[in-house]
Amino acid sequence: MTKSREDREDQKPTDHDPGRRKFLKGVGIAGAGAAIADHLWSEAEAKEKSAAPPESLSGNVKVVLDVNGQKREAQVEPRTTLLNTLRNHLDPAVTGPKLVCDVGTCGACTVLLDDKPVYSCLVLAVDAANKKITTVEGLGTPENPNAVQAAFVENDALMCGFCTPGFVTTISAYLKKNPNPSLADVREACKGNFCRCGTYPRVFEAALAAAKGSQA
Ligand code: FES
Ligand code: FES
Repeated sequence: MTKSREDREDQKPTDHDPGRRKFLKGVGIAGAGAAIADHLWSEAEAKEKSAAPPESLSGNVKVVLDVNGQKREAQVEPRTTLLNTLRNHLDPAVTGPKLVCDVGTCGACTVLLDDKPVYSCLVLAVDAANKKITTVEGLGTPENPNAVQAAFVENDALMCGFCTPGFVTTISAYLKKNPNPSLADVREACKGNFCRCGTYPRVFEAALAAAKGSQA
């Protein structure tokens, strides 16, 4: 059988690799790369298709919250904030934390999460499950207020009262860390809480009085 010129050339390796063969080799490597990539891609696609669908993030989920020492259950969407859940999805509702800005700037919604002040409008209820939540209601009662609550009353430290639960909660947590603060310390501790009525001087006086009272 007569061998073609190309066949003959293939059987005769030489140092000189003509352009066409070099080109074909190059295409071969690139082609192999593309083939491997294709293979990996379709493998990944097949895996994705066969994998169980991700857990649905829509609809309601059950959350169990530890609010002021009580287990409280709610059915909420995963995107529901802790503030919204406390105020609107518990029965009876926990309305101490107030909804004012809803974007984490005013501090009216402050609660303690594992004893640390947080803006509950920025925390998802599902993230607060299994954590200790303390609202202003859990700090004391009208009959038995804590030192800060009592000092707010004695020092007339509120006007409309919307910011008050946030301030009381923030200051109560702060005085545990620093029981003997200066005025500057108190101002610094309260920098995440706004009072639109401008009751700041009375709020700070109340905080200092509470600190003194607790030490006496
Ligand atoms: S309501 Fe949460 S910070 Fe204002
Ligand atoms: S007392 Fe009205 S916002 Fe502070």
